[in-house]
Amino acid sequence: MENLTVIVLAAGGGTRMKSKTMKVLHPVGGRSMIGHVLSAVQAMEPSRIVAVVGHQRDQVGPHIQQLVPDAVLAVQETQDGTGHAVRVACEAAHVREGTVVVAAGDTPLLDGESLRAFVEDHASSGRAVSILTGVVEDPFGYGRIVRDETGDVAAIVEEKEADEEVRAIREINSGILAFDAGFLTDALARIRNDNAKGEYYLTDAVGLAREAGLRVGAFTVDDVRQTEGANDRAQLAELGRELNRRIVTRWMKEGVTVMDPATTWIDADVVLEPDVTVLPGTQLLGATVVREDAVVGPDTTLKDCEVGVGARVVRTHAELAVVGDGATVGPFSYLRPGARLGAEGKVGAFVEVKNADIGDGAKVPHLSYVGDAEIGEGTNIGAGTIFANYDGVAKHRTVVGRHARTGSNNTFVAPVRIGDGASTGGGTVVREDVPAGALAVSSGAQRNIEGWVVSRRSGTAQAEAAQGGVLDGGAGTEE
Ligand code: UD1
Ligand code: CA
Repeated sequence: MENLTVIVLAAGGGTRMKSKTMKVLHPVGGRSMIGHVLSAVQAMEPSRIVAVVGHQRDQVGPHIQQLVPDAVLAVQETQDGTGHAVRVACEAAHVREGTVVVAAGDTPLLDGESLRAFVEDHASSGRAVSILTGVVEDPFGYGRIVRDETGDVAAIVEEKEADEEVRAIREINSGILAFDAGFLTDALARIRNDNAKGEYYLTDAVGLAREAGLRVGAFTVDDVRQTEGANDRAQLAELGRELNRRIVTRWMKEGVTVMDPATTWIDADVVLEPDVTVLPGTQLLGATVVREDAVVGPDTTLKDCEVGVGARVVRTHAELAVVGDGATVGPFSYLRPGARLGAEGKVGAFVEVKNADIGDGAKVPHLSYVGDAEIGEGTNIGAGTIFANYDGVAKHRTVVGRHARTGSNNTFVAPVRIGDGASTGGGTVVREDVPAGALAVSSGAQRNIEGWVVSRRSGTAQAEAAQGGVLDGGAGTEE
């Protein structure tokens, strides 16, 4: 929108969070609270965004600049009220004309569409002040919207200034207001702090507009939760649950099957394609993307991961990992940063993968650690294989070629290379490169000492079994 300035207030202390982290920086739905607000604000395409910072501005300022590099940071040295904060913002950004919208930094459910509708309504009405209001069950703590006989807004009266009659009003100031910039800058110079809190109340601008014969109006949102702030961790959790409910509902409307919305957590920046299925107990976090027909869960956490078309990821914990089309992961797999599984590949039960490329159709099915490695397409890694990447000082790489077949219980002592189409025997410790097509074995030939148990363990159940036993009759022999 043309000549629109948005001021985001984030100077307050947020003491009720009881945290060394500033309130607006607390994460919810994969972003900071102020991150959600800034994203809603950006949807209006304002000409400039001014953030008012004060308390812990060394934390808040850099965070805002990272999210909105061209935001103006206005420093409010002392928190003398919302009117003072907006004055500091207008001075820092040299605001003189156009429209000014004021919002708070702690309303994570705020949505760009609602803001846009509010500002369009304000701009088309020619008002000096518009207030985004809502009707709530419990208006305690909010500024009340006092209307005159004709129903026009006469004033906003703060909780501390309100008498019993005003306190009973359930229409409240959401804290989001729109102003004509010329009127606002003039009014800010005239707002006084002779009130119960000794603060400069931005809301006093409403009374000043009325006195000057200017128009003031309210724009009521039905969805008041959008403007709700989180002051403590209990409120943050509640808003987080509501935010999640909204995100999950949106994805279901977009064609995603979510079997149990109550135990499914999806961050705001996650992208899901139609016909994805999310099973119970699953968290899709950060910038995770899940492609068409993939099935994720149950009990899976994916952070900043990419899951390909038709892949299946079961009971898995993964971060910064890529799962190819049609690949399968889990149950009980751990994919760490840099794990990349090719199309139709497999990472099976109790397998940990870090910084490794596992090729198309390659499989690491059981009980293995794959770190700092490359595994070629179509290769099968035997059960219980350790890619020993760390010599106690530095990390080294292992490269396994295409269509190799490595035996169970191998150790690949990096740096080492196993060639295309090579094999290794069970229990091999690979310290030297294995040429393409070779079979590597590292343990010596097996030696059987006949009769050892009967002579050394006589009188035991083992010896008894040994005496009557046949080679192919007992447990431990494959049929
Ligand atoms: C404010 C409104 C009230 C409204 C409510 C909605 C005023 C006087 N009152 O009350 O009508 O119903 O919000 O939540 O505006 N801030 C600063 N600098 C300051 C003071 C506040 O940056 O000097 C920031 C706070 O960090 C917060 C926002 O402004 O993000 C609102 O301030 P707060 O003190 O919480 O105002 P309320 O008393 O809740
Ligand atoms: Ca507040």
